[in-house]
Amino acid sequence: MPPESTGSTKRAEWSRYGFILAAIGSAVGLGNIWRFPYVVGENGGGAFLIPYIISFLCFGIPLMILEFTVGRGFRGSVVTAFGRLHPRLRHLGLLPFVMVIVVFSYYSVIAGWTLAYVLFSVTGYMDFETFTSSPLPLVTFFATILLAGSVVKVDLKAGIERANRYLMPVLGLALLVMLVQALTLPGVQAGLTYYLTPDLSVLSDPGIWVQAAGQVFFSLSIGFGVLLTYGSYLSDTESIPRSAVLIAGADFLVALIAGFIIFPVVFSFGFDPVSGPQLAFITLPEIFSTMAFGSFFGALFFILLFVGALSSILSMVEGGVATIVDEWAWPREKATLLVCILAAIIGLPSALSYAGFDITLFGAPFLDSVDLLFGILLVPVSASVICIAFSWLWKPESLLAEVNKNSRFKFPRAAVTYLRYVVPVLLFVTLASTVAGML
Ligand code: ALA
Repeated sequence: MPPESTGSTKRAEWSRYGFILAAIGSAVGLGNIWRFPYVVGENGGGAFLIPYIISFLCFGIPLMILEFTVGRGFRGSVVTAFGRLHPRLRHLGLLPFVMVIVVFSYYSVIAGWTLAYVLFSVTGYMDFETFTSSPLPLVTFFATILLAGSVVKVDLKAGIERANRYLMPVLGLALLVMLVQALTLPGVQAGLTYYLTPDLSVLSDPGIWVQAAGQVFFSLSIGFGVLLTYGSYLSDTESIPRSAVLIAGADFLVALIAGFIIFPVVFSFGFDPVSGPQLAFITLPEIFSTMAFGSFFGALFFILLFVGALSSILSMVEGGVATIVDEWAWPREKATLLVCILAAIIGLPSALSYAGFDITLFGAPFLDSVDLLFGILLVPVSASVICIAFSWLWKPESLLAEVNKNSRFKFPRAAVTYLRYVVPVLLFVTLASTVAGML
């Protein structure tokens, strides 16, 4: 019989808007602003929105709600929550713990690139290859880790919560200014037609569904245990379903707006919308170099990317730190130092993989391979482990009592059945299709 939620330890708690802002910060990141538009571009424009919205509703939001509920119910980070569910399951929590540190490591490399590009928007853009072969990416990689560590090492409220109170308004404002500018460009009609006209024929391709599911996981930060950890600091007075809808809605909106910015810009300057990951670091700098007030808009765009990335990184660091603090009772500062040192070491081959050293793994640049393994393949695995363990072993009455606490909307018992049977099958199909598509 699994032990019930403890709820007794004195644990830091978010303030009301602090939680919403921090969780939006965790969700909104490179996944929305950089990855979403190019994945849409590569997958038939507007048609991609259909599987994306379906995945978002069918398992994105349910898994987000589950992670918040487990975190609050068990009042612990991911290893602790598994341990309290059943002592023998404690080690299952190590999977998201390891994942979050690895993702933190290579994500900081890309965040570091965006930081360097903020600088380039003023000094003039360096060619991407010249840049990645210079020592600068290493400097910005370490600077990003240092910055994130210095925020997280302070306590929850004065650190992550306070940082997001500044970061989120900056992100919103930058997004708005970029949107207004993009919608006044001459290519707005062509860009929006491409973005919003679905080519329904691509929906028969399983690959587009797999891409959409992967994008939903990454974008909502599902499966890394960071939502679970953020949920563990959530006050009993908060309504989890309402908060999750707000957070997921904001995440969706930002991704949607990123498309409203990117496609008019790309079409106005005659570039190919199907330019893949290089869109942000090769195509857009070329555009910013020629457009009116390009320095300003370039700086704004890369600040937007960096702020989004940093607020997501804060949640990854917290995911690692909270586990060490909860499990081994380390002081927060020491735990942060360890997580940052680990990420700096693990991320080094990723940081150097584009630097002309030819550091590869499974025949691809190291960064791409760890992203594939930890950011794409293991995510549905980890999400399934969390979903199956907590929907089957946590008493349904306790799970429902926790999720429905202070919520006007009450989930019925069928919600647990949905988590037990439907979500794992969807996740398994996603994983199997991803692997099949790679063979
Ligand atoms: N959710 C974060 C992002 O989308 C990791 O970038």
